[in-house]
Amino acid sequence: MSAERIYLDFNASTPIAPEVAEAMKPFLSQHFGNPSSLHWAGIPAKEAVEHARQQVAELLQCSPDAIVFTSGGSESNNHAIKGVFFALREKGNHIVTTQIEHPAVINPCRFLEKLGAEVTFVPVDRYGRVDPQDIQKALTPRTILITVMHANNEVGTIQPIEEISKIAKERGIVFHTDAAQSVGKIVTKVDELRVDLLSLAGHKLYAPKGVGALYIREGTPIEPLIHGAGHESGRRAGTENVLLIVGLGKACDVAKKYVGDDRICSMRNRFWKLLQDNFGEKVVLNGHPLHRLPNTLNVSFVGKAGGELLSRLDGVAASTGAACHSGSVELSPVLKAMGISTEVGMGAVRFSLGRTTTIQELERVVQLLKNTLP
Ligand SMILES: Cc1ncc(COP(=O)(O)O)c(C=O)c1O
Repeated sequence: MSAERIYLDFNASTPIAPEVAEAMKPFLSQHFGNPSSLHWAGIPAKEAVEHARQQVAELLQCSPDAIVFTSGGSESNNHAIKGVFFALREKGNHIVTTQIEHPAVINPCRFLEKLGAEVTFVPVDRYGRVDPQDIQKALTPRTILITVMHANNEVGTIQPIEEISKIAKERGIVFHTDAAQSVGKIVTKVDELRVDLLSLAGHKLYAPKGVGALYIREGTPIEPLIHGAGHESGRRAGTENVLLIVGLGKACDVAKKYVGDDRICSMRNRFWKLLQDNFGEKVVLNGHPLHRLPNTLNVSFVGKAGGELLSRLDGVAASTGAACHSGSVELSPVLKAMGISTEVGMGAVRFSLGRTTTIQELERVVQLLKNTLP
């Protein structure tokens, strides 16, 4: 008999919400037109794209004109970082970021170093939080961009974005945040965060994979990443992916009712309590105890190998804090930057909960762990 399947990897990807799939259906068949066409086939497609733009803007509380549709979080980050660098390279070449960004931020920065950029990777504390004062100290007269993620994908730590944006504003520096993990989970109103650029990824918020958006505050100096015809007001060329954009719009609309809903958070806290009750000092929490995504529990099983442990939890989908590089297993750069020891870090498992998670599933995982761990 095959094991019960339990999905606890919602930070990796979410299923498409039923409402989202339903909204997309007409665009798989009857509404096939090109949104740039001015005839009967193009008009519904154009209207759908603009409706979706409105829905994304409502979640972020911004003007729909500030939303550019992209192919996902990676493209949005690349657009933000390279776009500002290319727009401002006469003014400066210095970029400030942190050591725990997603590769979709680290690697565009590394690429720009080859083109003459200087990048400062600011360290974080043991909870994965950056000190805004360290960002301030890293700034130079040549700094053109600060890019700091809103919430970390591995440990869920939420960064002090408002404080960093205050520093950026005072110095007239463009501020980007990668909000791929936070949009739909916590409040991401761009005027509260006071960011100039914000990236989001559809498949982290119950929309399909391969679609995302970049919020661009009016007046932000930024070059397009993809040049071509004048789509997306000249900011991103290519015929719009109407089907996926409709899905993203609907997902943002649905997400409004989940932001601030503490059901997932209370289940996550109960799960952690059960783990502590059962395993005591053998479990260690990775990430900030308070400033953390409500669905994320990154826990180290001290002295164990996370991957091996997971492989013994039949049917449970979750992630580890280590990755395999050229045959050897290494601690993730995020845990490393947090100063987590190898002994603790190698035992890290990321459980990320979602809308369909139940307390019974979490109790079952605890039971499986009890059967596995001595
Ligand atoms: C924080 C963060 N940024 C960016 C991305 C990349 O998004 P996408 O897979 O849509 O390119 C991810 C996805 O794992 C992420 O977690």
